Amino acid sequence: MNILAPSILSIDFGHMERELLKVYNAGATTIHFDVMDGSFVPNLSFGIPVLRFVRKALPEAILDVHMMVVEPIHLLEAFVKAGADIITVHYEAVSDLKRYLDKIHSLGIKAGVAISPATQVKVLQDYIDDIDTILVMSVEPGFGGQKFHPETYDKLREAKDLAQKSVTHTDIEVDGGIGLNNLKDVLDAGGNVIVAGSKIFKNDSVANVKAFLEIME
Ligand code: DX5
Ligand code: ZN
Repeated sequence: MNILAPSILSIDFGHMERELLKVYNAGATTIHFDVMDGSFVPNLSFGIPVLRFVRKALPEAILDVHMMVVEPIHLLEAFVKAGADIITVHYEAVSDLKRYLDKIHSLGIKAGVAISPATQVKVLQDYIDDIDTILVMSVEPGFGGQKFHPETYDKLREAKDLAQKSVTHTDIEVDGGIGLNNLKDVLDAGGNVIVAGSKIFKNDSVANVKAFLEIME
């Protein structure tokens, strides 16, 4: 199943609740929530109180938390309590990935692993049975509005091959630089959870969601 996950990094924070309701009611029922620590990535974003607000605004949405944070083990429980349905940690930012996957699952939600552009898909081989989502970064993590790296297509095909070896279902999420121009190619290469920020929250967010979903059906 294809899923569109608008990234609220590019939302109009002055009208956050209104914009959340608009994209949700237009059919984007998963919201991508980028947490940045100023250390793993050279930027800061938002955290637990903002997630709580999103949960309150959209009680039924799937909240997909992308942790660009070094060793966030001590934060996981608070994010779950604030409303996370899936937490994705970065392979490059954690020292013991299995511990994270087990901890996230023990909190009763899904666990994802993100890989930055320089990281190969095969590093996830030994963990695949415990990964609900492989998040392939198609830009360097840290900022919205960057250009899509075309090397991502090969990585998506590899991620799909790896996911097929898993005993459980694994989603392939793609994040960064996705717009109407490359969406079909991203889907054809194997991505099924599509993150988009700047291309959703510019101009008319409802029309943008509808245009994305039309290609994704
Ligand atoms: C970047 C974030 C992305 C970002 C994508 O580190 O992980 O989720 O919001 O933004 P666009 O779609 O503008 O590339
Ligand atoms: Zn993200």
